[in-house]
Amino acid sequence: MAGKVKTVGVLTSGGDAPGMNAAIRAVVRAGISAGLQMKGVMRGYAGLLDEEIVDMDSRSVADIINRGGTILYTARCKEFMTEEGRRKAADICRKHGIDGLVVIGGDGSFRGAGKLADLGINTIGIPGTIDLDIACTDYTIGFDTAINTAMEAIDKIRDTSTSHERVSIIEVMGRHAGYIALWCGIANGAEDILIPEAYDHDEQKLIDQIISQRKSGKKHHIIVNAEGIGHSVGLATRIEAATGIETRATILGHMQRGGTPTCKDRVYASIMGARAIHLLQAGKTKRVIAYKGGEFVDFDINEALKMTKSISPDFMTVGRELIRI
Ligand code: ADP
Ligand code: F6P
Repeated sequence: MAGKVKTVGVLTSGGDAPGMNAAIRAVVRAGISAGLQMKGVMRGYAGLLDEEIVDMDSRSVADIINRGGTILYTARCKEFMTEEGRRKAADICRKHGIDGLVVIGGDGSFRGAGKLADLGINTIGIPGTIDLDIACTDYTIGFDTAINTAMEAIDKIRDTSTSHERVSIIEVMGRHAGYIALWCGIANGAEDILIPEAYDHDEQKLIDQIISQRKSGKKHHIIVNAEGIGHSVGLATRIEAATGIETRATILGHMQRGGTPTCKDRVYASIMGARAIHLLQAGKTKRVIAYKGGEFVDFDINEALKMTKSISPDFMTVGRELIRI
């Protein structure tokens, strides 16, 4: 259990996600309400090692709840992966009086936060990633915004795909996880969803289905392809050659990481940010906040990192019944 914290830093680490600003705002404002000194650490662990640390007051986080990205910037940092780097980071925290640190990021960032906690700095992790690939939680900051952004983009592609009677492959982000592809595939009424968790790589089957659907009168054929499967351009070339139907690939890319956060991302990020302060006040350290089974909870970071998750059977069923996964 941690001692009573007086000064709390907050940083964002790994890939940015819409809603991170709402979380930063909540951490800072809840901390100030609790009478704590608040500091912003710029550029994740890299900025911590470079001592890019600024005082934060209530006004520092004004007008940011509606903004995508992160006002603290984010980075990946190799030096922090070393024991020496983390010892230096813990010394810098002590030098600046930081006895509590809220880390908004993904599993890698939590791994670092856990190790920093072992060096005496009280740490709390908040899950922030568009990929939804953090096992301990059903919600990650940014996922809701990203799927809505991708859904709108795919709707637009569908319009032109129908007009030209084409096959369209739309590649969405998610690193090794297929959650963005699965949600969008369902929401956009795609004909096929290719996700790392389920795709059998039977390209001939895919081609046969495109041909048979075209014969039955389908004017377009939307394939939502997860980044973890990738190779959308090559797949488009092969489908066009095999079916004779014009096929285009669109890789949505980083536009999925930007934009104004949805209401859900703002609200859940705010709840998680405030909870991080409550945990530190309660003397907790090395915890990660999660949303599980409809409730906000927290887990030991090491326990959380050992957890695994898979796509729920309901999602697989709807995917199989309405579309083809
Ligand atoms: P994410 O947090 O989104 O999973 P990364 O995996 O890139 O993103 O991790 C972000 C940063 O967290 C890394 O650049 C590194 O500084 C730190 N980190 C990642 N893994 C570890 C680890 N095993 N030990 C210590 N620090 C780590
Ligand atoms: O983790 C978020 C994410 O956008 C993944 O979906 C994607 O694989 C990766 O980050 C892209 O990283 P970068 O911004 O370094 O290209």
